[in-house]
This record gives sequence, structure tokens and C-alpha cells, in this order.
Amino acid sequence: MPPPVADLTAALPSSPGQVSLTADPCAIVIFGASGDLVRRKLIPALYHLAGHHSLAQQYAIVGFARTPMTDDAFRDATGEAARKISEVGPVDDTTWRAFAQSLFYLAGDYSDAEAFRRLAARLAELERQRGLQGNRLFYLSTPPEVYPLVIEQLGQAGLARPANGRSWVRIIIEKPYGRDLPSARKLNQQVLRIFDESQVYRIDHYLGKDTVQNLLVFRFSNGIFEPLWNRRYVDHVQITAAENLGVERRAAFYETAGAIRDMIQNHALQLVSMVALEPPASFDATAVRNEKLKVLQSVRPFTAESVARNIVRGQYGPGSINGAAAPGYRQEPGVQPDSHTETFVAAELAIDNWRWAGVPFYLRTGKRLPKRVTEIAIQFHRAPHLVFRGGDVEPNWLVLNLQPDEGISMSFGAKLPGPEMKIKSVSMDFCYRTAFGTGSRSAYATLLHDCMRGDATLFDRADSVEAAWGLVDPIVDAWQNSAPAFPNYAAGSWGPREADELMERNGRAWRKP
Ligand code: BG6
Repeated sequence: MPPPVADLTAALPSSPGQVSLTADPCAIVIFGASGDLVRRKLIPALYHLAGHHSLAQQYAIVGFARTPMTDDAFRDATGEAARKISEVGPVDDTTWRAFAQSLFYLAGDYSDAEAFRRLAARLAELERQRGLQGNRLFYLSTPPEVYPLVIEQLGQAGLARPANGRSWVRIIIEKPYGRDLPSARKLNQQVLRIFDESQVYRIDHYLGKDTVQNLLVFRFSNGIFEPLWNRRYVDHVQITAAENLGVERRAAFYETAGAIRDMIQNHALQLVSMVALEPPASFDATAVRNEKLKVLQSVRPFTAESVARNIVRGQYGPGSINGAAAPGYRQEPGVQPDSHTETFVAAELAIDNWRWAGVPFYLRTGKRLPKRVTEIAIQFHRAPHLVFRGGDVEPNWLVLNLQPDEGISMSFGAKLPGPEMKIKSVSMDFCYRTAFGTGSRSAYATLLHDCMRGDATLFDRADSVEAAWGLVDPIVDAWQNSAPAFPNYAAGSWGPREADELMERNGRAWRKP
């Protein structure tokens, strides 16, 4: 990383003032409430929103799952987990106690219609007691096999439609949204039999990351970048979503998904759409989502030949990360000893439209890579002619850092001090935390808040979920016909050798973030 020469953040106000956009009063029902996501992400995000007065004064959060539990046990379990989550900052005991008064729990089997009738009665009671105005947000965080059942039960129990003309009912559906195009279509049909598309919020938490939204602000509120944002100036785009963790406790799911379904079909393609979209007419849900869809429709579809040429899959073997020994994927608990599941994917995509023709988009994601980092890096063309004899000049890079440190940096060549005309690449850095004196809020907090305010801009629509599966299915199909030579990268490395070759054949190289 070149040394910074200028700190753009100095020009920004240290405390820009919080805009308070309070959500509507509502009841939030979380299905799958005993699961990991709820403890690690959803409850901490709601606590954060409550603490920042982004929730209405009146709200109730009802956890629903099969495990029997009292309200108090649910409060204790989620409180204990929230204290361990650093993302939302330290948990303040008084704020937590006040927040926990609005947490409730209902045990029930998803196939039991009576449990949903009890839920309806509980909601009506809470609404009366707390003045929730009949607004209801259902969050599907169960195993995906249960989604159709819960949706059906909500319909049967009369919970899918607003009780009156002034209230709303919305449903957030977690990924995975299907496991291929036919199952995603089927799920869309099941959902849309009970709910209207305008009620459905398909969540991809990558879209809630501040830098992803910042990308649109960066492009469309500054006069200087958008004119460069095309094939005339951009050489290629690299999107990296690297994790140093392994599969943790999710082997049962991951074995059936792999990196292509777990990361590429959703998160990585979402980032591609956000980088590549045309300027929307406005920042509203329909306009933005129309443009995102057009990007996916312009990605050149894969064939068996182009999969073999442009996509690399990998699986980690034993290795070490930060000096600590790490087991291979096949040695992780719950993984088949001869598993063919990929934990790494690198891909070269072509976008066939006027803006991007000839500009490759490279995607790379993997588990047990050297570090956790997600970035979108845009390399511009080299200067067409060099008048200096000061050695090689690096091309300009624009890097959007999504995590761990959200920010944007731009590299350029600068003259080294001294009599010689020596050029070195340096960078101007904008760091979210330094500029605004605060970290960005969690992606889940942003998205839950948006949903409660009825803003679907950062959620996925039925058509683009299907378009993304349409791109991924041929890859999975092509892979089915050959057995990969796994493992092919060591834990703690940047992936298999073939991923580097994907770049090298065109004289390019992956960045080492
Ligand atoms: C999830 C995947 O959607 O995203 C996980 O299922 C992955 O496997 C996670 O670890 C990565 O999210 P983040 O925000 O930590 O980059």
C-alpha cells in the first residue's frame, strides 16, 4: 500500500449532524428466533436502532421459533449475545433493559396452524397495549426449506394483509433465496401467491453496507468521476470478498451451497450491478432496481467452454493464518472427508453493453484467505504516453473499501523529492470513521430501518434474483461434469494458482489488499 500524501477527510465536517428518520411504529416478528443470525445480527441491529432513536417510540419484537423459551430467557440469551458483538458498540445496561422490555417470544411449530393463530392473537394484544397501529414486519430467518410453510401459514392466519387501509404488512426474506433458477422461481410464486411484490423485501446485507450506498453518491453527486466511469477510461474492475474464517458451524448448509451460491450469486453480483449500473432517473426503489437488473441482463451468459476458461474454483487444504495452524476444509466438523464443495471462486465476467464492452470484471471470494477484506477496485488505463524517464508508472486505482475499514482511496503518481524525476504511486484516502467521527452502522440496521420506512431500494426484486440465478446455473451445471482436484490452495493463501493465471493471461494481477 503506497503511503498517503493527502488526507481528504480533513476537508469534511467532523460531526455532520444526524438526520433522524424514525421508523413507523410496528411489530417485528422474527421467525427462526433461536438461530445464530438473530443473536449475532438482527437483535444487535434493532438494539442499535432503538438506542439511536431510529425506531418509533412504540414497537414490539416477537421472536418465534420451535425451541420452548420464556420472554425472559429470550431477553437474556439475546442480551448476552449482543454484549459480545462489537459491531454495534458497547451495550449500555440501561438502554438494553429498556429495549428488552419490548422483546417477546412465542414458541411454535411452523406446521402448526394453531401456533399462527396464537401469534395473531399475541400481535393483536401487543398492538392494543402499545399502539402499534397494525403495522407488521415479518422476518424469515428460518432454514430456507421452511419458508414456503411459514408464508402459507401467514396467509392462512390472515396475517399477510394489512388490517386496515392505513397500516402495512411487509416480509423480509433472508438468503439463500432458492438454490437455482427453478427453485427461486418457485419460491417467488409461493411468496407472490400470498404477498404482493410491494410487500416483499429480499435482503442481501451487502447492499446495506454504507460504502455500497456511498458508491452511488460518489458516482452521481460528484461531477468528476462519472465521466470516467466507462470503457474509455477503465481498464478493468476487481471485486474481492475475502474471509479468513472457515465454515465455522455452518458446514451442513455450506456443503450444499459452496462459494458460488453463498457469495457469488448474491453479494458479488449485487456489487457488480452497483458498480456498473447506468445513472437511475432518481434514487428510488423502482428506478435503481431497474438499472441493476439491466446490468445482470447484460452480463454475458456462461457456457461450458467459458466456465472452463473464465471461472476458477478452489477448496482450502490445511495451512496457517496469522501464524496459527488452520485445518483444511475437509477436516472441518460436519464436512465430508472427500467433499467437492468449493470454498473459493474467481471469475472473469464480460458486460455486453456500450459502457462496459471490453472491460473485464474480475470477482474473487473465498474462505480461509489471509485476511477479511471486501473491496471494489477499479483500475484506469495507463497514461497513453510517458514523458518522464523515471521508471514505470503505476496505473491509477480507485478502491472502495467495504470492510473492515469503510472508505475510498485513489492512487496516483507523484514525484519523489530530490533532483531526479522519480515517480511513486501514492494515495488519497477517505476513511469513513475519521471523516465522520463514527463507524458506519451495521448493514442489518440500515436495511431493517429502510424496510420499516417502506424503502425497498436496497432490497432485491424477484426479477433480479432470477436473473442472478440464470447466470450462476450454467456454472454449477458445468462443474457437475468434472471432479475438481481439491484441495488446491492452502488456508492462509490467496487461492489456487489458476486464479492468478486468470489475470496473468491478460497481463494483469490481483491486488493484494
Ligand atoms: C453470508 C454468507 O451471506 O455472508 C457467509 O452466508 C459469509 O458465508 C458472510 O461469511 C459474509 O458477510 P460479511 O458481511 O461478513 O462479509
